[in-house]
Amino acid sequence: MQKLLIKNIKTLVSVYEQAPLKLSGKEMAVLPCIENAWLAIEEGRIVDFGSMDDFPGITDWKNLEVMDVEGSMVMPCFADSHTHIVYAGNREQEFVDRINGLTYEEIANRGGGILNSANKLRETSEDDLFEQSKQRFFEVIAQGTGAIEIKSGYGLNKESELKMLRVIKRLKNLNLIPVKATFLGAHAIPAEYKGNKQAYIDLLINDWLPAIAEEKLADYIDVFCEKGYFEAAETKQILEAGKKHGLIAKVHAEQLSHSNGIKTAVECGAISVDHLEFCNDKDIEILKNSGTMPTILPGAALFLGLPLPPARKMIDAGLPVAFASDYNPGSSPSGNMKLMMSLACIQYKLNPEEALNAVTINSAAAMHLSQEVGTISPGKCANLIVTKKISSYGFLPYAFGSDLIDKIILNGKVWK
Ligand code: NIG
Ligand code: FE
Repeated sequence: MQKLLIKNIKTLVSVYEQAPLKLSGKEMAVLPCIENAWLAIEEGRIVDFGSMDDFPGITDWKNLEVMDVEGSMVMPCFADSHTHIVYAGNREQEFVDRINGLTYEEIANRGGGILNSANKLRETSEDDLFEQSKQRFFEVIAQGTGAIEIKSGYGLNKESELKMLRVIKRLKNLNLIPVKATFLGAHAIPAEYKGNKQAYIDLLINDWLPAIAEEKLADYIDVFCEKGYFEAAETKQILEAGKKHGLIAKVHAEQLSHSNGIKTAVECGAISVDHLEFCNDKDIEILKNSGTMPTILPGAALFLGLPLPPARKMIDAGLPVAFASDYNPGSSPSGNMKLMMSLACIQYKLNPEEALNAVTINSAAAMHLSQEVGTISPGKCANLIVTKKISSYGFLPYAFGSDLIDKIILNGKVWK
């Protein structure tokens, strides 16, 4: 049996004997820690921890690796519950177009945006797409992500949507970190179906969904609920169809305008509703009576210059909030979850404890993984960040441009 003992940990962060499934409202400001701690891992799982003052000593040295991390903190890896890391090429030119005055919507209306990425992806082979995506997968793991959700939605035809989902499956089969797959065929209306949206929706529901379910390629189904994309009623139709195939709902909602995406997501029992720039007080009331995780994507709001979603107001209203990266080529070309945590503090006024919980336990909950990762708890997967020598966990969001990760441990083994 492979065993790892980490000792002389300056602070062991987010420690629970019995982990909560998620943290809401005032609970988000609580971050249980052990100072001067040790942590024991067996077969890739957390088994025990405590203070160095009460360290029981080592009785069995067989297959034991001991790691002395004096001055470093150990925390659970980030969980990134919303990404689009499977894509081809990039959209650098649109970045420059926006600098020069065009809006995201104007670029999309000219056939750029998501359709631009779809054109590139359709021309890319599955193997090439896998290689490009794997680079980003390794990039975000090195930045501390220890569980991830990845969406399709740049194929927009059956062959290419399946190609994306198979690439996600190949990333999952690397067995490095937990991966959840989301079918996002309803990301945009492909050029071939312009003016004939219902035909596209029918195809997606009656042809693609059964094929995806048959091959077990997706855990979730997502829709971009937005003016010019999919209306609330269409979103509902697609999510209900997904449900019949065992896919749980997630929704891109209220990003560019108020489109009743939150209401629709809650009605469909969505696990999460994401973006929320145009979320209003009524939506906050709707979320209060739901199990749907409001998820903020600060990278997209920053990159597109959108109004800030009311994260602080949500927490003050007693809601849980998760933060994720939305890593994608058009609206958030970064999957750096430490940066997302900094933005949560700097722009959204979460305190460091709330921000840390938002990018670990709550973002894990937004993909049904909070029993597997997201806190330091017995039985959980040992996907951990060992920090460089820092003064406190609050230094992580404070030093927003610094790489403060010393080691990444995946399944109880040093990965980086
Ligand atoms: O989450 N909002 C819709 N989808 C993506 C952006 C997609 C793109 O521009 O490529 C998002 O922001
Ligand atoms: Fe997204």
